[in-house]
Amino acid sequence: MNIVIVGQGAMGLLWYHHIQQLVTNNDNEIQLHLLPSKSLASSQSQQQYAQYTFTDRNNRQYQSKINYAKPQNIQAADIVMLCLKSYKVATALNEIAAHLNTKRNNNALIVLAHNGMGTLTELPQSIINKHNIYALLTTHGCLRTAPLTITHTGAGTTDIGLLSGISDLTEQQALSQLLNIALPTVTYHQKIKQKQWLKLAVNCVINPLTAINNIDNGQVNNVEYAATTVFLLKEIVAVANAEAVNLEQVDLEKKVQEVSEATAKNCSSMRCDVLAGRKTEIDYINGYIHRLGIKHGIATPENTKLWQAVKKLEVNS
Ligand code: PAF
Repeated sequence: MNIVIVGQGAMGLLWYHHIQQLVTNNDNEIQLHLLPSKSLASSQSQQQYAQYTFTDRNNRQYQSKINYAKPQNIQAADIVMLCLKSYKVATALNEIAAHLNTKRNNNALIVLAHNGMGTLTELPQSIINKHNIYALLTTHGCLRTAPLTITHTGAGTTDIGLLSGISDLTEQQALSQLLNIALPTVTYHQKIKQKQWLKLAVNCVINPLTAINNIDNGQVNNVEYAATTVFLLKEIVAVANAEAVNLEQVDLEKKVQEVSEATAKNCSSMRCDVLAGRKTEIDYINGYIHRLGIKHGIATPENTKLWQAVKKLEVNS
């Protein structure tokens, strides 16, 4: 089994480390490689950054060599896992598309692991036609503290399911079992879209509110954000219904409260991006709701307002 992980951020290295442990523990069937972003594309920088550092939840530190992917490793890949920001997915896939395995009736499986929704429609039809594409959603907390240095801050769970293509049970089980052995618990879902929407709804509330107001996740439950939360979720329920996804307002309100409590002291990914002057994933979160609202003729004033407010923060940062 040949696996390529794309992206050397917190999530990319979290999966790289745990799959690498399987290899170290004598699973000689697995060949694992990391395809980094342009910043680590040259062989000179790959020599400089030959190792990664992983700190587990018990504060144990591991250092291990990185096997950087060469074109032949991408050609041989059975699984390509993209652990990238949503706005980088289409470009990254376009860059490797010509090398991907489409021979021997053994087309590479593509796994998308990112916040937000809407990346699938940006992919070229040739990729969608040839490859099964899976979505992976995880609640693991992981922090990148320096280049190629990450800390696993919170245990979580992972959901995976087919987004596009046709796959049989054997393929679904092989993929989810492999990931489950590496970093449990991974659960396979026939209806992953429902899970994606649930996560999207949580992100549509917590991410922009924490980024705009510069607050920790837990403060989203404060009474001053209650009305906005209700309006945001109402719009999401309406748009989801138009997309044939059934969501209940009460379930979403409960979920937002739970996630905000469970991650109360955390800095959301969007707030971290804004504070660091980076681009955010807002176009794939509230921006996605805004676009679907237009498509279905549903007004989404609250989501549109927060989408625009975060875009403004990106420009000003
Ligand atoms: O994007 C994030 O930071 C997380 O998905 C979430 C759920 C908001 C918790 O921090």
